[in-house]
Amino acid sequence: MSKILVTGASGFIGSHTCLSLLRSNYKIIAMDNLRNSSKKSLETVSKIANQNFEFIEGDVCNASLLRDIFKKHKITSVIHFAGLKAVGESVELPIDYFENNVGGTIQLCKVMDEFGVRVLIFSSSCTIYGNPQDVPVTEECPSKTPTNPYGRSKLMVEQILSDIAKSNKDWKIALLRYFNPVGADKSGLIGEDPKGEPNNLFPYISQVAVGKLSKLKIFGNDYATHDGTGVRDYIHVTDLAEGHIAALKKILNIDGIHAWNLGTGKGYSVMDVLRSFQDVTNIQIKYSIMPRRPGDIDKIFSNPAKANKELGWFAKRDLREMVNDSWKWQSKFPNGFQE
Ligand code: WQD
Repeated sequence: MSKILVTGASGFIGSHTCLSLLRSNYKIIAMDNLRNSSKKSLETVSKIANQNFEFIEGDVCNASLLRDIFKKHKITSVIHFAGLKAVGESVELPIDYFENNVGGTIQLCKVMDEFGVRVLIFSSSCTIYGNPQDVPVTEECPSKTPTNPYGRSKLMVEQILSDIAKSNKDWKIALLRYFNPVGADKSGLIGEDPKGEPNNLFPYISQVAVGKLSKLKIFGNDYATHDGTGVRDYIHVTDLAEGHIAALKKILNIDGIHAWNLGTGKGYSVMDVLRSFQDVTNIQIKYSIMPRRPGDIDKIFSNPAKANKELGWFAKRDLREMVNDSWKWQSKFPNGFQE
């Protein structure tokens, strides 16, 4: 039975993608070092999908563990989420970010190549575009100048994978450039579960709404946007998960390496998101305007036409549904998967 190895499987996007894979009758092997996530997410995925699958606790930097996995299982493709992803943290811990995000991917590709497994979906990011001059951004956007080690690690991996694809025509690689993944599975049983105080807007507002945090700090209202607050392309995590399945189907039928933006093509400001939370929850979200956060950019949103056309994939869920599903998860599980 051929299987898909999912690295970083218990994380926010990994767990939702495992759920979508199981719902589409794929067989998976889940792997995660649990540094930033809980195994409970995958136990819940198994219950929702009513399917069992193997989970291996481990790190993609551990080549001998990877070899054991490839020896034991008939793996035909890999979806690679494992990595560190907090923009602010990457500025403080660049070595950690390059070791895990770049080094870990190199180890994974080495072992895949040894076992003749050369179908890879890589979790890339819109942060590789840096602060784009023009929006919406297409995959050919010239300004690939990330503003932090996290974004630079993603761009480095894309360049390494491009060279690997050039070295051997058997490689089939998808670079999926996520915009801002938010929301939760419609069941409300799995969702975003950041450890400690959230870095990102959606989980922060959700925790204010549920009373865990007192108010939202809005990092700057003097950006060149319609209301001065930062604009981003928020995409429902289930749309994102389904984008991985569409990309997997596509690359099995074409050769080489290809990049696709996974976004909605719409930009919403911090205030737009805050108002949507207030409409959905009927809760007044307290906030204060703070100085800009280092590394933040004014505005970015995607042109998803390439993915729409080549993958036959479209983001289906709007901002209200993203907020509604975030709230459903957060209000049901105020402490996430923490025991
Ligand atoms: C969004 C907006 C903030 C928190 C994220 C991920 C990164 C990448 C891209 C995948 C900005 C403002 C936020 C808060 C605020 N994803 N904000 N108060 O910075 O776009 O990056 O998406 O690769 O991994 O980190 O997302 O949610 O942190 O910020 O005012 O407490 O909300 O200034 O304008 P960002 P974010």
